[in-house]
Amino acid sequence: MSSDDSESDHSMSDMEDSELEIKHLPVFEFPLTPTLSLTMTQQNNTQNHGTTVWDSSRVLAYYLMDSAKRLVKEDFGTKSCIELGSGCGLGGLAMAACGYDVVLTDLQEVIDRVLGENVKCNQWSIRQWMAEAAMSGETIQDPKTRVTALDWVDIYHHPERMDAFHPPYNYIIAADCIYSMDLIEIFLTCIYRLSSHLSIILISLEHRDDLVVNHFVSEAKRLGFEVKMIPKKLLRLAVNEDVEIYKLKKKRIKTLIK
Ligand SMILES: C[S@@+](CC[C@H](N)C(=O)[O-])C[C@H]1O[C@@H](n2cnc3c(N)ncnc32)[C@H](O)[C@@H]1O
Repeated sequence: MSSDDSESDHSMSDMEDSELEIKHLPVFEFPLTPTLSLTMTQQNNTQNHGTTVWDSSRVLAYYLMDSAKRLVKEDFGTKSCIELGSGCGLGGLAMAACGYDVVLTDLQEVIDRVLGENVKCNQWSIRQWMAEAAMSGETIQDPKTRVTALDWVDIYHHPERMDAFHPPYNYIIAADCIYSMDLIEIFLTCIYRLSSHLSIILISLEHRDDLVVNHFVSEAKRLGFEVKMIPKKLLRLAVNEDVEIYKLKKKRIKTLIK
């Protein structure tokens, strides 16, 4: 992964607000790059964690802008990305801005409350930004984004339903989905079924509890992934120093998961 774009310099952290400052806002502008702001709608009055933007997704979105290869127009439609537990959708929108075909997923309730709206209302600004970045003056199509329900528990019990998601993906991303011991194997099984050994899998989390994070790492290894933590110096952590990003790679060997 590489970036030769000067926009990705870390001075943008000056623009980052803390989660505390924005969590109560129904709508706020997220400066993904100095020239692209995303309009994020959130709801903080629900029982679901997915309806607010978490720091892990802000750090992941910036890391993707800094590290994922930006596709040129000729390559649009050739690389895919799926986001699990998208919530408000920041990670998936960042990959759309990089030119990937993105499937943003969550539980239906989160789609109905925030995700569907956030993806729809940012299409135009992402397209304009990509057209300006290409400096071609040519028309660029809307970013290829799709929002769909994907419940990890459902896929865990019904592996045959994964076919509808057309794996494998070039990128699989998720932010702040590692917080419950009970969901870790279920979540990783879903990622296993979506990936090939070539997939780049990036999972950001807020390190709140050693037990949970250690269990995540050991389960990922047990299920057949190589696991590396991205060095913290590569992350824009001004918002929250407890955020970590893990890069997983599916091993070629046969494992426990069918
Ligand atoms: C803490 S939120 C993180 C949301 C967003 N990625 C972010 O970082 O702002 C966890 C997300 O996981 C989703 N989630 C929890 N259990 C799930 C399941 N069984 N299947 C799919 N998504 C699930 C929630 O709906 C929620 O959007």
